[in-house]
Amino acid sequence: MKVSRISLHLQLLGLLLALNGFLLHCRAWPARYTFVVENTPYKRLCSTKNILTVNGQFPGPTLYAHKGDTIIVDVINKGNRNITLHWHGVSQPRYPWSDGPEYITQCPIQPGAKFTQKIIFSEEEGTLWWHAHSEWDRATVHGPIIIYPNKNNKYPFAKPHAEIPIILGEWWKMDIGKLYTQTIQSGGDPNTSDAYLINGQPGDLYPCSKSETFKLMVDYGKTYLLRLINSGVQEILFFAIANHKVTVVGTDASYTKPFTTDYVTISPGQTIDLLLHANQRPNHYYMAATAYVGGAVPYDNTTTTALLQYTNRGYTPSSTPLFPNLPAHNDTSASVHFSRSLRSLADKNHPIDVPLKITTPLFYTVSVNTFQCPNNSCAGPNGTRLAASINNISFESPSIDILQAYYYHVNGVFGTRFPSSPPLLFNFTAQYLPQYLQTPKQKTEVKVLEYNATVELVLQGTNLVAGDDHPMHLHGYSFYVVGLGLGNFDKDKDPLKYNLVDPPLQNTIAVPVNGWATIRFKADNPGVWFMHCHLDRHMSWGMDTTFIVKNGKGPEAQILPPPPDMPPC
Ligand code: C2O
Ligand code: CU
Repeated sequence: MKVSRISLHLQLLGLLLALNGFLLHCRAWPARYTFVVENTPYKRLCSTKNILTVNGQFPGPTLYAHKGDTIIVDVINKGNRNITLHWHGVSQPRYPWSDGPEYITQCPIQPGAKFTQKIIFSEEEGTLWWHAHSEWDRATVHGPIIIYPNKNNKYPFAKPHAEIPIILGEWWKMDIGKLYTQTIQSGGDPNTSDAYLINGQPGDLYPCSKSETFKLMVDYGKTYLLRLINSGVQEILFFAIANHKVTVVGTDASYTKPFTTDYVTISPGQTIDLLLHANQRPNHYYMAATAYVGGAVPYDNTTTTALLQYTNRGYTPSSTPLFPNLPAHNDTSASVHFSRSLRSLADKNHPIDVPLKITTPLFYTVSVNTFQCPNNSCAGPNGTRLAASINNISFESPSIDILQAYYYHVNGVFGTRFPSSPPLLFNFTAQYLPQYLQTPKQKTEVKVLEYNATVELVLQGTNLVAGDDHPMHLHGYSFYVVGLGLGNFDKDKDPLKYNLVDPPLQNTIAVPVNGWATIRFKADNPGVWFMHCHLDRHMSWGMDTTFIVKNGKGPEAQILPPPPDMPPC
């Protein structure tokens, strides 16, 4: 009697879950959200600190939308610091006003102030995320954005049994504001993080963490969609699940040809949609993430874990969960191999539109640099101050945002002479490079693009100071990654190998250590758009640039007017 009642309950539960899944798909998501930025105590690794959160949640709340929706977020700053919020990977057609990078498209929202931001979706479908875009507060101020197909469409794969965001993150025991200030003041490398996180939890391998390790319960035979996000501040990560291969079906809110792999590499900023088939012997298994670091720089070498646990009854779990094979921390070929495996779906329902005739060829070097300090008193190599640059220009933040200066014709805020190629040609990836190449210029220069310009941008890593991988992220656009390689870009040979058939459409691409990547996009979104390395130390050291895309002809090609409540500078 009891048994049958339980089974009835289970059946009802199943029915409810199915109904819920059905509702998930056809329900209209709220078109308006309130995000209260506030200080909240959180305990990790045996100690408690106050972190900046949205609505007290860490990781923050999920935004839901269907393709092509517009949603409104009322941001209220009840914290004690200036803040801005960015919707990473949302192209915001003609509306840079809500994009968020501080001193690029807005001045920060001050404590006590509000800002209503409009998020305009267009082509994006899949997983993106939102995060703070001021100093390094995105370490704790971030959350997923899930964009479902619009009403008449489906996933280009069988509907998964359930969908689970897997947010990879990084945790410091110290205050993030302090970490930032200390790094900038000392001129040296930042303290490495104390832990990596999966859905806000460090996992079993860290002290005081075991009881709260994230657990993913799966039924044997079912398929799960994992929406993987790297919200880490300083590190590219490898991720894998013991005994389970995963099938990549999308990245950066764009579908990919499915491919099956033992591990993935995910850059800060990037998202990867994975199908997990729960088809192994019922047991408990670890999923884990750890750093990939191509350069000779300090990093956190710890490993975060979560559990994958089969719900099936009647099995005896192994005494400890099985552990996945992750590539070695310095395995550049594993990282590059993964990047190169991504291909656009490029089918009838998901056509690609890669520019073939290029009007604007650009070649940008991305470098770590140094500045001399009086009496060699800084904490960088040989007493210097660490810096970073693009085409030898270390980006200097202006005092009012570039968008405002551009829109209202305020002179003297930025220059328009960002160079299309580096000022000096040298063997960018040579093992030894002369000292004099290390010092960049400090400027606020933008590259002005004509409306509808077809841009090809070769990003070339250099070995100045210490070569490293650079996950470069562009606002306002997704771009096609048509080529990627190690060493110096060869302008005669490498273009012959470009993928113009099914290149992946991304918003972040990891330029390999001492290597290059070529991206293409059509400048059809007028506005002011930031581009930068998504390792926050490099961003803050100046590995940034800005595109201004001019208005075109006709009303549909004009930047929209600003909202009335832009935060004052
Ligand atoms: Cu994920 Cu400029 O941002
Ligand atoms: Cu970088």
